Amino acid sequence: MGNGPSKIKFHHNGKSRKKCYNTRRKSSSSLSSCSSSTASRQNSATSSDNDFYRFSYGRRYQNVENVNYFMPNDEDEMARLQLLHYLVKLNWNSDFSSPITERLKFGNFKVLDCGCGPGTWVMELGSEYPNSHFIGIDCCPIFPTSIKPANVEFQCTNLLNSLPFDDDTFDFVHMRFMVGSFTSEQWESIVIPELMRVCKPGGFLECMESDMKWVNSGPATDPYLQEYLRRTDRLVNINHAHRNIPIGGWAGKLGESAFQVAQQTFEASKIHLSEFLEISHDEYDELIRIACREFDQFQTMVPTFRFWAQKI
Ligand SMILES: C[S@@+](CC[C@H](N)C(=O)[O-])C[C@H]1O[C@@H](n2cnc3c(N)ncnc32)[C@H](O)[C@@H]1O
Repeated sequence: MGNGPSKIKFHHNGKSRKKCYNTRRKSSSSLSSCSSSTASRQNSATSSDNDFYRFSYGRRYQNVENVNYFMPNDEDEMARLQLLHYLVKLNWNSDFSSPITERLKFGNFKVLDCGCGPGTWVMELGSEYPNSHFIGIDCCPIFPTSIKPANVEFQCTNLLNSLPFDDDTFDFVHMRFMVGSFTSEQWESIVIPELMRVCKPGGFLECMESDMKWVNSGPATDPYLQEYLRRTDRLVNINHAHRNIPIGGWAGKLGESAFQVAQQTFEASKIHLSEFLEISHDEYDELIRIACREFDQFQTMVPTFRFWAQKI
């Protein structure tokens, strides 16, 4: 539900508007200065903003070198991610599972959210814990730049090019719904080591994913992610929790919202999944119509997972 199968790979280039640690398609520099104008989450892209993106069949996509992520990142996608955020919060009754609430309240606690998308998670925690400090990073500047709590910052960074933070900077490093963004090798050789590097000893690392089993499981679903974390040899107290999100009217209001997110996810994945499945767009639409009917018939649920652990 977060995003889709990681087998589909696209390799693109781009830049950001603020500090930009991405590489543009035809740029020789990996660190460009970018203007800090309006957030593109409003989808008010100017012609220079468009350098970050490519457009296909009326949807906007990231265009950043070496980034695999294939879902759109336009206004509709931001709305889908926001709805998904609230669905997850309702289902899990929390924004995270690590035992950090008291320290967040106490303050001076530094939090990093990797692949923050529209920044909903970061903004919410920033408002809830005004004494702590939050940074969200994403490979595209789709997060808010002007209207945000004073303790919240966003940066445009490609995680695969390493994070622009010193070792042992953050008390809590969080990442959610990135299963389709990295190959198995990237998870193990770049992503987890990078998250570990910027996490302070004694700090917590937490990853949350969903399993798109009806399409294809990604490499970071249970038990892979847990195995990657275990293999670092630098994490203790590795915890794992699992909850199913029910989809469809059979599960009441929560199911109806999940149904809406599932429909939006199918729609957002249409171009790439129909190519992956080697079917036409019409055939894809028909498949989705049938799948949506089956949610009620079979009482479909999407498994979601959280892994959290402490760095030694
Ligand atoms: C499914 S969205 C999840 C957004 C957010 N974590 C949430 O829970 O709403 C995945 C996000 O990861 C970002 N992303 C993908 N690959 C990335 C990379 N290599 N570096 C930084 N961000 C990346 C995408 O731009 C997208 O915003």
